[in-house]
Amino acid sequence: MKRYKVQKSGPLRGSVSIPGDKSIGHRAIIFGALSRGECSVTGLSGGLDNVATANCFRAMGVDIELGDRSARIRGVGLRGLQMPKTVLDCGNSGTSMRLLAGLLAAQRFGSRMVGDHSLTRRPMGRVIEPLRARGAHIAGTSGAKPGALYPPISIAPLVEGEFISGIEYDMPIASAQVKSCMLLAGLYANGPTTIREPVLSRDHTERMMMALGVPLETAGSMCRLDPQEEGWTRGWDPFTWEVPGDPSSATFMLAAAQMVPGSQVCTTGVGVNPTRTGFFDVLRFMGVAPHFESQGDGAGGELVANLTATHGAARATTVGGELLVRMIDEVPALAVLAATVKGKTEIRDAEELRVKESDRIAVMAKALRDFGCPCEELPDGMIIEGGGPLRAARVESQGDHRIAMSAALLGLVAEGETIVDDVECVETSFPGFPELLRSLGANIEVEVVS
Ligand code: S3P
Repeated sequence: MKRYKVQKSGPLRGSVSIPGDKSIGHRAIIFGALSRGECSVTGLSGGLDNVATANCFRAMGVDIELGDRSARIRGVGLRGLQMPKTVLDCGNSGTSMRLLAGLLAAQRFGSRMVGDHSLTRRPMGRVIEPLRARGAHIAGTSGAKPGALYPPISIAPLVEGEFISGIEYDMPIASAQVKSCMLLAGLYANGPTTIREPVLSRDHTERMMMALGVPLETAGSMCRLDPQEEGWTRGWDPFTWEVPGDPSSATFMLAAAQMVPGSQVCTTGVGVNPTRTGFFDVLRFMGVAPHFESQGDGAGGELVANLTATHGAARATTVGGELLVRMIDEVPALAVLAATVKGKTEIRDAEELRVKESDRIAVMAKALRDFGCPCEELPDGMIIEGGGPLRAARVESQGDHRIAMSAALLGLVAEGETIVDDVECVETSFPGFPELLRSLGANIEVEVVS
């Protein structure tokens, strides 16, 4: 078991290159595996979630060589996957399981997906039910909430004459995982897939599909994929893609710079797809907008920039609604930043956080209180009364990478020695997190404990 030991730190200064975007990494591996030849993907984070996706495809006969931050994928085409030799282990990765559910439900072979302790408690009815409505033979497992479905997921093959049907689906919640699941199933469907989200969630799948020539159209928070469209040959050529840095990882470095007085931190090569930049907008509302230097268009229709945060006197704010969807993974980092900002910061419309890798509302509210920051937990968020003195605390990550990294940030500004237990989970999305933070001057050590 590993833990972080963190001490109050002086100003953080310097420039860090941010590891690859987890969401884009998953999709690059999926679209690479389904392409008609050898693809090269560079700039991956090296995180275990992406490795889980790659391993699932390996089990289905796709040859994937994974380097430290790269992948060479010998794509087998849309119809080339083989029946998995093993159960598909998605580890901690909800994205792997939900996206693959759509793809696997459309195959003429059966499969079974499992996950770790945290993933096994995450709701899967949100993909199982709409896939069943399209004719898929897919089943989940009962669990904590009566009527709800959880992993493992079992999928029986579509037999001769059976197809995934077209669908017009009004999604009850904004979710890129559900949307992408439906679009992947839609590649094999015998009719169009039309999706409407209440608010547009991250649109990496749509951008990649369009970049690869898949007949997909988008309009606001709507998209439509029609695989029968004239002229589409049902497939795409191999590609070479460089994955941009993960804005969700950059967030931890930029938030740290806003928390520790005197800091100035530049994060380079960060993906700034507008569906992901809600946290940077919140920093602007707080009066501490990061400096933005465009680096142009990256592969797959993604925008890239260098972002620099200079510590300033931030003001408390309220976030919710559409903005929340654009920063869903950044809420723990906002919560710890808010603890250092004088006044009340209110986070609303964030109920989805209760079903992430942990119940992030409950776990963050407790962590903040343990550090001495008053925090009221709400059903859909929290109210944080920031700016008071913070004392070091001991935090159990609950196996959630973003909790572990957020708690480490609090340790940089709290009096005393903070311990964050069970930090292996950080490897799922941000390998090298403590080393990068230390390279900026943070007082953080990793300890191996038995
Ligand atoms: C992801 C979508 C988000 C996000 C997750 C990654 C993706 O989940 O929280 O970390 O890559 O599609 P939802 O869109 O399901 O909320």
